[in-house]
Amino acid sequence: MKSSEALNKKLFEEELSNGLVIKDSENMPFYSIEDIKNKVIQGDAFKVLKKIPEESFDMVFIDPPYFLQLGKKKLKRWNVKTTVNGVLDEWDKFSSFEEYDRFIENLLLEVKRVMKPNATLWVIGTYHNIFRVGKIMQDLGFWILNDVIWVKTNPMPNWLGVRFTNATETLIWAVKDKSVKKYTFNREYAKSFGIGKVGANVWVLPICGKSERLLDEKGQKLHSTQKPIELLKRVILTSTKEGDLILDPMAGTGTTGYVAKALGRDFVMIEVNPKYVKGIKERFKKPLRITDRNVINKGLIQNYMKLEED
Ligand SMILES: C[S@@+](CC[C@H](N)C(=O)[O-])C[C@H]1O[C@@H](n2cnc3c(N)ncnc32)[C@H](O)[C@@H]1O
Repeated sequence: MKSSEALNKKLFEEELSNGLVIKDSENMPFYSIEDIKNKVIQGDAFKVLKKIPEESFDMVFIDPPYFLQLGKKKLKRWNVKTTVNGVLDEWDKFSSFEEYDRFIENLLLEVKRVMKPNATLWVIGTYHNIFRVGKIMQDLGFWILNDVIWVKTNPMPNWLGVRFTNATETLIWAVKDKSVKKYTFNREYAKSFGIGKVGANVWVLPICGKSERLLDEKGQKLHSTQKPIELLKRVILTSTKEGDLILDPMAGTGTTGYVAKALGRDFVMIEVNPKYVKGIKERFKKPLRITDRNVINKGLIQNYMKLEED
């Protein structure tokens, strides 16, 4: 075992013995960073964020509800008579665009307050929500550095064939306002996986694989939108330095903190659903070992994108 791996394993074990989860309550009016560093706070992000000191984080990653508006009807694949596994969770339901917009705006306002002056913010979404999120970010003064297009090599096909298969998600990467120039960007690393010689803002990688998936007691997916480790690895290695503190206020299965810790960063995660928090606890029992080596084969990307070698 290399010394860095041994260190990571030790850090994970330390985490477990110290207790990974804090349950938020009204008896806790304030959190110091030392209280919550490398912890998952089980609670409502809107309440918890207000208790965290301003200018605390070097980077924030948000994977908010998408507001997919799928309704109650099950989507059927007519040819194979199976049901499409969409996002039907309660946490994705809002009564209107106005309600969704207020949710995003309040979240972004709280997040902006806890970002350090040179921190960056990533928000991921699909065509259902990302345009609304982007507009709200700009209205709040965030300065967008990039949108990154994640091209999925194994997207869910459009079974009815009535529109294009939706094979992308978009990440918006931003700073607090236009004046921020000293943010972290690891250019050489970014070039190692971005498309073409310039390392463009197109990331080609599969959705969360079976070996990474967290399962519930019935052997079903614990979370409908668990993000791949490789995606978070790219986000974290391009926009943070070792020892930086990363926030994920809507953590789901805790992918952000799990990857952050393995890469020598610290984290704070917030998640309201106890079922997912339990999943995070289980997840952290198995230390993640990753390096900054790119796991996606360039040939496969060229082939998938039908790009000519240049
Ligand atoms: C799209 S999922 C995040 C998935 C995550 N990135 C992963 O890899 O598993 C959004 C999460 O936000 C959580 N959530 C929604 N409203 C919340 C709130 N007010 N406070 C904290 N978490 C919330 C949901 O329970 C859900 O797990």
